[in-house]
Amino acid sequence: MKIAFFDSGIGGLSVLAEALRRFSGAEFLYFADEDHVPYGTKSRAQIVRLSLDAVGFLVSRGADGVVVACNTATSAAISELRGAFSVPVIGMEPAVKLAADSFGSRPTLLIATPLTIAGEKLARLVGRLECETWSLPLPLLVEFAQDLEFNSPAVWAYLREELAKFELARLGSLVLGCTHFNYFKDVLREILPPHVRIIDGIDGTLNRLASELGGGLKLACGEDLPSRTAKFDADGGVKFGANPSAQGGKFDAERRGAGGGQSIKGRSKQGSEGRGEGEQGKEGGDESCGDEQGAERCDESVGKIYYPNGNSVEYFYSGRALDAAQLRKVEIFLKRLDAMRAID
Ligand code: DGL
Repeated sequence: MKIAFFDSGIGGLSVLAEALRRFSGAEFLYFADEDHVPYGTKSRAQIVRLSLDAVGFLVSRGADGVVVACNTATSAAISELRGAFSVPVIGMEPAVKLAADSFGSRPTLLIATPLTIAGEKLARLVGRLECETWSLPLPLLVEFAQDLEFNSPAVWAYLREELAKFELARLGSLVLGCTHFNYFKDVLREILPPHVRIIDGIDGTLNRLASELGGGLKLACGEDLPSRTAKFDADGGVKFGANPSAQGGKFDAERRGAGGGQSIKGRSKQGSEGRGEGEQGKEGGDESCGDEQGAERCDESVGKIYYPNGNSVEYFYSGRALDAAQLRKVEIFLKRLDAMRAID
């Protein structure tokens, strides 16, 4: 069974990374629409068109189900996507309901893209909640992430200035309503008062994926859905599920060294249907993928990586398979996300 993840860029890797921990023996596809990122400042009509193209590409590559790992594309295009394709399409929504259920006595602050915040879908969702919900668009954070700028003075200054517009001491939780924001949990943690919990919508999305495609998806050994369930106590403290295997798929060099490693496998160019294929730069060759992170082999025209638990991912940037240099960058993103994972 092939499950595809789609985002405007690298944000959806946060959802894929968690799926790689939870599931085993799965063939994943990942589509980052790098030619058109950011989505959050585009019109709804543009995002509908781009999302239909992206999901159409993934379905043509054999996807049996698609996770729209992008709050913005979900907000703008989920109905059109479900109408256009017969495979299950799972969307991603800001976890304001979870925040309200858990910390509803205090306000929730939602950070997201301008389009998600202005969207009718969010208005309907928030309208049903009793909890006071504040919202803040942070479009520059998407650009910082895409530029691999995660913890720079400019990121700190931007977040400090934007968050200073709110009475943070009153908050119960901060909801990450954009998958790109997962890269900034460490900076957000430092700026927010310690009692404020940081909540993302990843578990809810993967639970939904598991329930829609459950039969075809095997859980990684020892995993039990939901693997990262937040358990909130009355004092506002949060404890994540004490499942000892939840860290089982960590992307650390140690594990790879111990035989759980990934490898990058090549495949012939004929097997790839990506638009613009063959335009990839020649930098990086077979050897250049064999880095300290355990990669074995790389064909610069094909972006497939094998991970622990028997999972694999084929990566595409707007329909083009990733080259060796781009695959190494994906590893940097996954490592960063791994480091952010425990932060709440
Ligand atoms: N990662 C996307 C989201 O979750 C949007 C980023 C963008 O503006 O492209 O909303």
